[in-house]
Amino acid sequence: MRVILIADPDPETAAALAESARRRDLELVRVGGADAALRVLGERDVDLVVADWHLPGLGGFELLAELFARSPESSVVFCAAFGTVEDAVEALRRGARDFLCKPFTAEQLGLAVERALDSARLVRENRSLRRALDERVGLDRVISQDPRMQRIAKVVMAVARTRSTVLLTGESGTGKTLVARAIHRASDRAEGPFVEVNCGALPETLLESELFGHVRGSFTGAVKDRAGKFEEARGGTIFLDEIGTASHGLQVRLLRVLQDRVVERVGESKSLPVDVRVILATNVDLKAEVKAGRFREDLYYRIHVITVEMPPLRERRLDIPLLAEHFLRRFTGENQRAVRGFTPAAMAKLVAASWPGNVRQLENVVERAVVLCEGDEIDAHDLPAELEALPGGDPPSPESMLAPSDALLPLKVALEGPERAIIERALRHFGGNRERAAESLGINRSTLFSKMRRLGIHEPRSQAPSRR
Ligand SMILES: Nc1ncnc2c1ncn2[C@@H]1O[C@H](COP(=O)(O)OP(=O)(O)OP(=O)(O)O)[C@@H](O)[C@H]1O
Ligand SMILES: [Mg+2]
Repeated sequence: MRVILIADPDPETAAALAESARRRDLELVRVGGADAALRVLGERDVDLVVADWHLPGLGGFELLAELFARSPESSVVFCAAFGTVEDAVEALRRGARDFLCKPFTAEQLGLAVERALDSARLVRENRSLRRALDERVGLDRVISQDPRMQRIAKVVMAVARTRSTVLLTGESGTGKTLVARAIHRASDRAEGPFVEVNCGALPETLLESELFGHVRGSFTGAVKDRAGKFEEARGGTIFLDEIGTASHGLQVRLLRVLQDRVVERVGESKSLPVDVRVILATNVDLKAEVKAGRFREDLYYRIHVITVEMPPLRERRLDIPLLAEHFLRRFTGENQRAVRGFTPAAMAKLVAASWPGNVRQLENVVERAVVLCEGDEIDAHDLPAELEALPGGDPPSPESMLAPSDALLPLKVALEGPERAIIERALRHFGGNRERAAESLGINRSTLFSKMRRLGIHEPRSQAPSRR
């Protein structure tokens, strides 16, 4: 039975509600003043308050504030014998559900009460739906039985409740974005915004104004003042992906935010305080970038507070069947396909593949197989050939891609040669189409861009510009 508290010295109000109360199975509790009303609220759960606007002891606005201070979910309908339109508008703006002028009919009050109860129920349902949704992007969506990943889950839970900066490292597609979201969801900022910016996807000047905002006239095209992503993320989390590509200027600005928690819009020297949790991700080795003079050492130490290293999929092969089954269930559901599972041959192929694009690549492969598979099980021939071979003929042998002197170089530098060759080949194969090249390499487009930039690769000239 739902409870309505009627706070009105005028007995007419309660009388007008008697009929709806009987019909809708409501319990009415009647008090004559503010003190008594607050006392009842302290003692029992009330679904709705119907209150006189000029209650002895407390004006309408104060009552509203008291109620919200006790429970932000309170529902109130006001009745006023001599309320003004301004009062009504302001009360509704501050969160009252309705505002009726006396005298009203029993039907009018009954209707207002029903509406208020319904919308309170919707708010409650909405909240529980949102919670259910939040849980879906929480840690429990990170599927793994690998001990390293379990340790990561522990670290994530431990740091979530702090404001510490977190750096996520790992190859493309290992789940950095997923973990960044999970950290946000597990933190006490979960109700605040989660703002994601890919630092590799925008040219330097645009990126600065995107992150920090700008004032009108600070550059051509800045026609009005604009807040940046840091301001947008206030009270929440900002996730800066591909931080390894940040320009020198951007690095200086970032250092300032992390040190002083203030931002300055481009073209303005006024600093604005921002309370944001910063999570960064990179798929390049920042230490090496520091050595090479491309990444500021002071910034490096500033962001290395808590580092989470996501292991590549090929180093946790036990997760492959688990993830494959998970994606199978998801995509059969989404596409309404009746695919039961994988044949042993298909599973063996999945487990043996090298997965340069990690979980994302596995996800794409399973989706494709679910859609294309003709039987009720995914077989080895439903899986793409490039799981074994690179596009464009036989894969080169590792030796054939090494210059004789490479073996004497640090691994990272030595690997640049083969990496460049593989990327150039994929680009050539797809006629310079970066999107398709990235897809075949199992990495996303912006990762391909940043690798091309780092390795100094230019697209084949004769080709038409690739599609964006
Ligand atoms: N452990 C996991 N369990 C379930 N899904 C996962 C897991 N790891 C990754 N995924 C899924 O794989 C895809 C790639 O993950 P994500 O985007 O988080 O990778 P990333 O490291 O951020 O990649 P990039 O460096 O390219 O941005 C996503 O769809 C994500 O939901
Ligand atoms: Mg990502």
